[in-house]
Amino acid sequence: MKSFTRVATCGLALLQALVTGTPLPHYFEHVPFTRRDLPVVQIQKELGHQISKGSLIFGPEHRRYASATERWSTFAVPKIQVVVQPAKESDVSKIVKYCNRNSIEFYVVNRGHSITSGSADFNGMQIDMASLTGITINRHKKSGWFQGGVYGDIVINYLWNHGYVTTTGSCTCVGLLGPGLGGGHGRFEGRYGMVSDNLLQLNVVLANGSAITVNETSYPDLLWAMRGAGHNFGIVTSFEAPIHPRGAPLWHYHNYFWTQDKLETVFEELNKFHNNGSTPVEMALNFGIFRFDTTISETEAIIWWTFAYQGSEEEAEKLLEPFNKIGAVREDSGDVPYPEIPDIQGTGIGGWLCPGNRTHITSTAGLQVYNVTAERQIYDRIGHWVTKHPEFTTVSVVHEGYSTEGVTNKNPADSAYPFRDDHHLMFFDVMVERFPHLKDEARAWATETMDLWNSGQPQRLPNAYVNYANGLEPVEWQYGHEPWRLERLRKLKAKYDPQNHFRYYNPIIRNDNTTRTY
Ligand SMILES: Cc1cc2nc3c(=O)[nH]c(=O)nc-3n(C[C@H](O)[C@H](O)[C@H](O)COP(=O)(O)OP(=O)(O)OC[C@H]3O[C@@H](n4cnc5c(N)ncnc54)[C@H](O)[C@@H]3O)c2cc1C
Ligand SMILES: *[C@@H]1O[C@H](CO)[C@@H](O)[C@H](O)[C@H]1NC(C)=O
Ligand SMILES: *[C@@H]1O[C@H](CO)[C@@H](O)[C@H](O)[C@H]1NC(C)=O
Ligand SMILES: *[C@@H]1O[C@H](CO)[C@@H](O)[C@H](O)[C@H]1NC(C)=O
Ligand SMILES: *[C@@H]1O[C@H](CO)[C@@H](O)[C@H](O)[C@H]1NC(C)=O
Ligand SMILES: *[C@@H]1O[C@H](CO)[C@@H](O)[C@H](O)[C@H]1NC(C)=O
Ligand SMILES: *[C@@H]1O[C@H](CO)[C@@H](O)[C@H](O)[C@H]1NC(C)=O
Repeated sequence: MKSFTRVATCGLALLQALVTGTPLPHYFEHVPFTRRDLPVVQIQKELGHQISKGSLIFGPEHRRYASATERWSTFAVPKIQVVVQPAKESDVSKIVKYCNRNSIEFYVVNRGHSITSGSADFNGMQIDMASLTGITINRHKKSGWFQGGVYGDIVINYLWNHGYVTTTGSCTCVGLLGPGLGGGHGRFEGRYGMVSDNLLQLNVVLANGSAITVNETSYPDLLWAMRGAGHNFGIVTSFEAPIHPRGAPLWHYHNYFWTQDKLETVFEELNKFHNNGSTPVEMALNFGIFRFDTTISETEAIIWWTFAYQGSEEEAEKLLEPFNKIGAVREDSGDVPYPEIPDIQGTGIGGWLCPGNRTHITSTAGLQVYNVTAERQIYDRIGHWVTKHPEFTTVSVVHEGYSTEGVTNKNPADSAYPFRDDHHLMFFDVMVERFPHLKDEARAWATETMDLWNSGQPQRLPNAYVNYANGLEPVEWQYGHEPWRLERLRKLKAKYDPQNHFRYYNPIIRNDNTTRTY
């Protein structure tokens, strides 16, 4: 208890104020604390005995606080005064009701990989899903129930060990719902669709604390909204998703390291290979990064590319022949069980994409085909920026190419996910934690790269996949340009979250219509 000394003092003073005299009806005691300093001890006392044993409530003084609030990116850090880790799903509704009675803002955190600027506006209680990681395979073995705190690594391994797979993100460090409520790209989307397409039923706690089940017959309007814009509507305590027999026991991978003189050939071959959205389903995910690798060059960014195929080497290498001919400086290939593929592609939980607590300046774009001219411009600007600021060799310019059949064969009107025509997902990232004075320069570069991607497809409007968005984009870029989508989402917000509690992750409803500048 020693670690609570500071907050205890403050809490006791408030507690005394509350317990004098006859108990007031709770609507008169609406704001017992100010948001400047939430009394952790008081919250422990009041909320602690309402929620189940094993739940944790702690503030900044506690030894668990640093790890519970660590984030992948320190670009936009929410102000977390108190962390509550519910032990049971039924606790979440009680926590939200308690927050509402006491005017405490709440913010759900699962794996802390959110990268959007909006979370910096938050000040209040973190509802931390870390203890809710249960997985149950249903008796008929066609689907499973997953609690709201599950993430890629445990889902992939648990199911594989039982003979099954399901849709997840590609990076195994991210949650299922952080990605899934906004779409959710992963290696099974070519076969089964995005994570959002696979949310059969959701147990949801609404903004007012009511716990409901959302499915095709119960709150179907919310099911539509939560498959693509779900972060705006509620807290998912668990969900049901289909599971499938795991298929090929081994996946083939092939990674290439190319020098920049091969850039045009690489992108021309990629366009032929993907053929504008006709990628073979088994060619689950390839992605490539312009980045620095001093084992190859001290001065020039390389083009690193990785392919993962659900099937044999023989089948995969037939498709990869054009890439084998280009001439890589280095390459490696092999065959491994599916759960090892994330590590090989750099997206495993211990891989180089996952470490947290760094400051990422990012931007994104959604493309249909690669524009070779634009890619050359983007590559050449790396030289410009790194000459100007040698610190900027922390850059990654990521190009993702999934197989897309399972995404494009769904009716786009059936869910809030708006970008089924984007066959490629782009992500720019430069890390600046060691030289924060270069933040604005990094931002200028991120925006410039995004603009070059978008200028490369003048016939299309700019899209920013909501989970890669940095929060500076207009709302249409995140939720779709068709006016009916936003109208429908705004109506549903008015119905289910009229006070806009869920507004810290690329909100549909914003306080003003100006674009943010961070
Ligand atoms: C290293 C890295 C890899 C990534 N890989 C992929 C990928 O492979 N595929 C992909 O599609 N995206 C990917 N993304 C983007 C990713 O979808 C988002 O960053 C996502 O928000 C991360 O979810 P999280 O649980 O890790 O983060 P958190 O910050 O914990 O959650 C993000 C937001 O999701 C909401 N949320 C989380 N859990 C719940 C819940 N139970 N109920 C309601 N709302 C909830 C909250 O609004 C929260 O602010 C990646 C991002 C990073 C940084
Ligand atoms: C939807 O949820 C309701 C309420 O829990 C339930 O009665 C119904 O069986 C569910 N429908 C489906 C298709 O699962
Ligand atoms: C790609 O396909 C879409 C239709 O899905 C079409 O509108 C577009 O013109 C095609 N692009 C190219 C470069 O062929
Ligand atoms: C994050 O990094 C900062 C320095 O950049 C350090 O002070 C802090 O302790 C780190 N936090 C965690 C949780 O590692
Ligand atoms: C490719 O990008 C260049 C540079 O932005 C642009 O001028 C050109 O029109 C684009 N090509 C196509 C086919 O869109
Ligand atoms: C909570 O909100 C939902 C959706 O607006 C509504 O149906 C329900 O009656 C509300 N519950 C309470 C207790 O007000
Ligand atoms: C913001 O945009 C909405 C929808 O486009 C519009 O109805 C509203 O009037 C705008 N508000 C301001 C302050 O411009």
